[in-house]
Amino acid sequence: MTSQELAARLTSIGQSSVLRFWQELDEAGQRRLIEQITALDLDQIPGLVAKYVTGKYTPPIPSRFDPATPLPHDPQTPEQRKLYEDARKRGRELVRNGQVAALMVAGGQGTRLGHDGPKGEYPVTPIRKKPLFQVFAEQLLGHSRHYGRTIPWYIMTSEANDAATRAFFKKHDYFGYDPSAIFFFQQGMMPAFSFDGKMLLAEKDSLALSPGGNGDCYRSMVRSGALEDMKKRGIKHLSFFFVDNPLVHCIDEQFLGLHDLTGSDISSKAIPKASPEERVGVFAMADGKLQVVEYSDMPRELAAQTNPDGSLRYSSASIGIHAFRVDLVERIGSGEFKLPWHRAEKKVPCIDEQGSRVKPQQPNAVKLEMFMFDVLPLSHNPLVYMTQRGEEFSPVKNAEGNDSPATSRRDQIRRAARWLEACGVEIPRTGEGEVDAVIEISSKFAANLEQLMARKHELPRIQRGATVYIE
Ligand code: UD1
Repeated sequence: MTSQELAARLTSIGQSSVLRFWQELDEAGQRRLIEQITALDLDQIPGLVAKYVTGKYTPPIPSRFDPATPLPHDPQTPEQRKLYEDARKRGRELVRNGQVAALMVAGGQGTRLGHDGPKGEYPVTPIRKKPLFQVFAEQLLGHSRHYGRTIPWYIMTSEANDAATRAFFKKHDYFGYDPSAIFFFQQGMMPAFSFDGKMLLAEKDSLALSPGGNGDCYRSMVRSGALEDMKKRGIKHLSFFFVDNPLVHCIDEQFLGLHDLTGSDISSKAIPKASPEERVGVFAMADGKLQVVEYSDMPRELAAQTNPDGSLRYSSASIGIHAFRVDLVERIGSGEFKLPWHRAEKKVPCIDEQGSRVKPQQPNAVKLEMFMFDVLPLSHNPLVYMTQRGEEFSPVKNAEGNDSPATSRRDQIRRAARWLEACGVEIPRTGEGEVDAVIEISSKFAANLEQLMARKHELPRIQRGATVYIE
């Protein structure tokens, strides 16, 4: 595209102001700006601005919600017991037959953690300080060994961290994973808009861009060739997780089996929400459809509503762990379904009309994101399965306080101790019941309790106050 064509195109969609410093830019700057602009889906910009930016559309919160009814963690009836047993068998077969791949989304910027670089580089384990990427790589290695085949691993990055992510994996020799089984793909970026609907500049030669939300994973899998690769490999289901939760079971045969046997398009794990303020989406039924209402969209009064027994009314929290069918990706990615956008007002550093740098103290911009769980109301027979917080969820999101490196480290130690106890190892505890040792189990040794049980005879004794790494 020539600069004249670009200018005409931008004028036609009401965005010519991004070229206001064009004459001041050197050739590299002009090229950079052209590349950024042409990578956007320009046709959709006027519609997005009218609806979400100036129109301030937010998805309606249905007036009547019913709590979702998840499948329980432990089967409650003989029929359920049979279903869960069959599910384990089915899940095992699916992984052994190479019909399951892992999908990790890691395109976000991790602003809250304040780590400069891909979040997956962040060291999280209690003793070896392994980065998140290594935690998942080793877990998938453990599972690959257990099931007798390498599990393909798809990793979504974004322009903000793609090069750094690939370099990190390469520098660490892919943490022992077969690089030919790893497929990196990039999601799209979205511009931030001023409140009057103009795309903001971060520099004179650069738009203020950020990743377009984890819901962009579907069409990015189509555009990048990841979907094609999955089909070539005969993959039927994706085991989906976020980059921030070191407790996740990247592969869970029972969950995958339940998902497959019940004919669910997309299945989700849930845990009881801790408090009205916890920043998690909640599962709810509206008009007979399952959906997640994101914490940022949930009115405070609704979040605080309680049942007669005092428990939270909207209590099933979504933790970013799902299983979904590859053909669902095809249906969404090809445009058969359209996911909505969510608007958020944010403080976005930018360049003002005069070319001066602005570091806003108040929100000055609208950012738009798609959420991956918005496929739920569009999908067939979605399943929700209740799991246990301590077993599967302790993310690293904030630098301090809740969901921080400190709480995650504590929860990793607690889980390791519980697994060891279940294998008959005595765990020293303080008067308050806290584990009185630092314990880390390498996933290459055992990726879950079942695998640890099978190696019971190799487990060490845990002395009070000791630091014990099991590999
Ligand atoms: C997310 C969920 C929330 C859930 C909570 C539990 C969404 C929209 N929200 O909130 O419902 O209860 O986690 O932990 O899913 N990501 C991308 N690209 C992006 C943005 C994010 O790949 O453009 C990835 C991140 O890298 C991360 C995951 O999505 O792996 C979650 O992103 P984050 O923005 O941290 O979500 P939360 O606000 O914590």
